[in-house]
Amino acid sequence: MKIMVIGSGGREHCLAWKIAQNPSMEKIFCVPGNGGMSEIGECVTLHSHSEMVTFAQEKGVDFVFVGPEGPLAMGIVDLFKEAGIPILGPDRKASLLEASKVFAKRFMACYGIPTAPFRIFERYEEAADFLRRREDYPVVVKVDGLAGGKGVYILNDLDEALDALSEIMVHGKFGEAGRRVVVEDFVSGEEATVMLAFDGKDYLFLPSSQDHKRVGESDVGPNTGGMGAYSPAPLVTPQVEDRIERKIVHPFLEGAMKEELWYRGILYLGLMIDEYGEPYVLEFNVRLGDPEAQVVLPRIQSDWVELGLALWNGNLRDFRLQVNNQSCLSVVLVSQGYPGHYETGKKIEGLEKRTEWEREGIFLFHAGTEKRGDHFYTTGGRVMNVCALGNSLEEAYDKAYRVISHLSFEGIYYRKDIGFRALRRNSR
Ligand SMILES: Nc1ncnc2c1ncn2[C@@H]1O[C@H](COP(=O)(O)OP(=O)(O)O)[C@@H](O)[C@H]1O
Ligand SMILES: [Mg+2]
Repeated sequence: MKIMVIGSGGREHCLAWKIAQNPSMEKIFCVPGNGGMSEIGECVTLHSHSEMVTFAQEKGVDFVFVGPEGPLAMGIVDLFKEAGIPILGPDRKASLLEASKVFAKRFMACYGIPTAPFRIFERYEEAADFLRRREDYPVVVKVDGLAGGKGVYILNDLDEALDALSEIMVHGKFGEAGRRVVVEDFVSGEEATVMLAFDGKDYLFLPSSQDHKRVGESDVGPNTGGMGAYSPAPLVTPQVEDRIERKIVHPFLEGAMKEELWYRGILYLGLMIDEYGEPYVLEFNVRLGDPEAQVVLPRIQSDWVELGLALWNGNLRDFRLQVNNQSCLSVVLVSQGYPGHYETGKKIEGLEKRTEWEREGIFLFHAGTEKRGDHFYTTGGRVMNVCALGNSLEEAYDKAYRVISHLSFEGIYYRKDIGFRALRRNSR
């Protein structure tokens, strides 16, 4: 079996690691991959999706896994599908569930999926008028298109809201992505992530998780790509999961069928759970979350390639997902200054015992790294995920931070409070 993994972050390293456990694995091509992935597969730089298809044909690739949303939104699934090469993910139209917040909100409204009440605007003046007449703050303004996690504004009063709107719609900060905006009610509660595997007809739940987006401890400071995560999220009780299934997943299935969305892969629900345990969809993502994948995949005992084949073949109904009942916690090591300006090219020290750690259930999933000779160097803001499995979240926390104390590079920064909400809940 030959597999191609597209992407270069912690999520993709984790995917490649999981895929490598398949007993009939011959070779994994990582496009473009990173330092950690270079120890599992062959890293290849290819410049376009059609080059990837040609490469896959020449090498006899059997299956393609895509990490990030960008290629999916550009229609990479359509291309591979036309070439007859199995690939997971939504086609270009279905990827609008993530790539267009307007499409997603209309879809939710149409099929009765609980989400914040909203309005859509294409012109600054109309949106500004609406905000001027509004009394309810905070309000949330979202750029329609993909914005790398920077397109959502939570605004406390009219002045802030008008400034944001003008940045997006008058000054064109997001270009075409900001041509339309969603203005929606602020929903209070606690966030959680639930991902599903979906073959177009049937679905199954992957373990729940929660991530930490803010750079600073206690969740303060600017948003990042993610500073850590853990699974399960104790907030997602069986009762909450049941509501997610009835109120969100069932109408989603109905919508996907009626709209004839071609979608075989992972669906990510970004949820707000209110104080009564009612779930609201903040957003859909059409792929695994990063850093959520890094705490969910280590808990899955089933083979990921077999799951992929079941999804591609539409046989999910016959697939049994085995999940261990351990907790997994991941801490992201970043370069000082991230998510603002940071330096790269720093040598990472202390990785010698990584194989030994892996036997203890502690995994280092690389993000911005490269391997030169026998050493690893930083190449990005998010450098590495230190993930640990434990019989409790407390144990996973202790294991992850114990290993981190052995790792260093110039300017290393990480949060020391990953999992605090769940740990607090457990100690209550
Ligand atoms: N309606 C809302 N009420 C409260 N917070 C929200 C709302 N919508 C988004 N947020 C916050 O903003 C973050 C980013 O919004 P999201 O819709 O997930 O967009 P993206 O991930 O594309 O930036 C969420 O994780 C959540 O913290
Ligand atoms: Mg989000």
